This record gives sequence, structure tokens and C-alpha cells, in this order.
Amino acid sequence: MKERIESLVKEISEHAYDKSEDFKLMFLSKKGKIQTLFNEFRNVAPDQKKEIGQLLNGLKEKANACYNELLMKESVSSDTCLVDDMTRNVDNRNIGAIHPLTLVRREICDIFSKIGFTVEEGPEIEDDWHLFSALNFPPEHPARDMQDTFFVEKDIALRTHTSSVQIRCLENATVPVRKLFPGRVFRNEAISARAHCMFHQVEGLYVDKNVSFKDLKQVLLYFAEELFGPETKIRLRPSFFPFTEPSAEMDITCSICGGKGCNICKGSGWVEILGCGMVDPNVLANCNIDPNVYTGYAFGMGIERIAMLKYNVNDIRLYFENDVRFLSQFKNA
Ligand code: PHE
Repeated sequence: MKERIESLVKEISEHAYDKSEDFKLMFLSKKGKIQTLFNEFRNVAPDQKKEIGQLLNGLKEKANACYNELLMKESVSSDTCLVDDMTRNVDNRNIGAIHPLTLVRREICDIFSKIGFTVEEGPEIEDDWHLFSALNFPPEHPARDMQDTFFVEKDIALRTHTSSVQIRCLENATVPVRKLFPGRVFRNEAISARAHCMFHQVEGLYVDKNVSFKDLKQVLLYFAEELFGPETKIRLRPSFFPFTEPSAEMDITCSICGGKGCNICKGSGWVEILGCGMVDPNVLANCNIDPNVYTGYAFGMGIERIAMLKYNVNDIRLYFENDVRFLSQFKNA
């Protein structure tokens, strides 16, 4: 008995098996080699029971450890190497979902690309010129304050909006320009259900001869109807941005209640989704484009906010926690 146990220990140590299934059958099944020894244990002489019992238990432990190791190896190789076994069933593989912010960004870009906008990106770390000065922010503007903006060093900050990419584009562009700038932005805000220190925007810019506010309004109506459905209405309220004149904020009829009034639109039936306006002549001049010849419009929207309305999500923090219980709900979106 002792010799047989020892020879099995040796056999297992030599890793004679590389498939967990075969190993289990040979050693760990009811009719396997180890159980056979356990069955014979009752015939062991009483004075040897202690020693043989310990050896047997040791053998079983070793076999279990070896079995687990084989299982582990198999799961690693099936995750990393699909060509391992072409006959393996892959149907129940757990396929991930596309992040809702990516879904919405793609949808926005698709809608505008149908009317000639092309996508460009700019840096997340920006200098004062592109972030503020060229965009016509006065020197004392609060956005230039440490309280609102994350500074990396003097005059270098994490961008607070994607409008900085307007400048990067116009500086090097030959007009006309019809562009979309999606990207991540940063603001020094306390994190809550409604605000985060990091979020995403999509900026639009069109500069050409004879661009008017009427063109802006028509494009925004097209966009709102495409994104939220043909029954959607828009309204533009006068507003202020240093880089547009005139400026407006756009509301749409609340997509949650259809305009009847709910807690998302605070009973008003309208929700704000973007800021926009005619590119300020100073901005064009700062980029060496003659404002007497060219005009343009710009708009900027928050992707999280639009995703919240589209998917009825009431806490912005959910977008950044990577909780699969949240993310997997977008599998079929
Ligand atoms: N940059 C503005 C913001 O972050 C949005 C905006 C973009 C407004 C373009 C007008 C024109 O709030």
C-alpha cells in the first residue's frame, strides 16, 4: 500500500497529464486510482492505519492542487489564445458592452457627419492662449481662477471646454471649416450626482462666407430631431459666452416626459442641452481670419447630459465607476 501511494505521488508530480478532464478521471473520480486506495484502507492493519491514512490524505491534497492548477492553466489559455482549441464552444463567452458615453458620442458624430461635418481632436492639456485669451475671455474672467480650473503650471491647464480646439483648428485651417471636436474636459467642481470634475463635450464649428444665425438654428433643429425623435421641439434662449456673439442656450422638449413636466425637467417640459452662438469677430481675427469676409457659428454640448436624457440615468457618477451592473445594460443599445 505504501509503495503504491508513493508511486502515485511520483506520477502526479511528474505532470503526466495536461488535460484536467483526463487527470480527474484517472485520479479523482469515484473509480479513480485514489478512491481505489481509500476503498482498500479498511483492510490496512490497525497499527499502520495512522501512517497510511496520513500518506493517503497527503496524496489526495496533492492531486487536488494539481487538478486546480490544470484548470487554471486552461482558463488562462482559453482567454488569451483563441486558436488553442478550434472545437471549443465559444457561444457563452461574455461579450462586453460599448460604454454609453461612446454610444452617444458616436451617434452625435454620425448625425453631423451626414451634413458634412468632419471630426478632429485637440490636446487635453492647453495653454492660456487656446483655452482663454484667443477665445476672447477678459483677463479677470473667473474661469481663469484656480477655483474653477485645474492648472498644471502657470498658464497651462487641463482644458475646461473643447472650445480650445476651435482655435487650434482655425489657426491652421483654410476656410471654409465645418468641424466637430469631441473630447474630455476638466473642471474643479465638487463631485455630486449632477456634476463631476471630468466630463465630455462635443463642439461644432462652421466658418464660411455668409453663415447666419438662421443656419445655426436649422442645423440644431435637425440635430435635435435626429437624436431625440422627430416630435422634438427646440427653443433658443439668449445667453452669454465670451467667444460667441450673439450667444444662446438651446432647450429641447423633455425627452423623458415628452414636455408634460417631470422631475428631470423640473416640471417645465424643457431641458437645456447645449450652448451656441455666432463666432465672435475677435476670435476670427485672433486666428488671422478676416471677420469682414467670414462669419461662423459654434456650439458645444455635454455628452453625459445628453446620455442622461437618452437613457434616463440620474447620477453622472455612474458613467465613471465602471460597474458592470450599470454598463452591461447597454449591450443592446
Ligand atoms: N464652451 C461652452 C461651455 O463649455 C459651450 C459653447 C461652445 C458655447 C460653443 C458656445 C459655443 O459651456
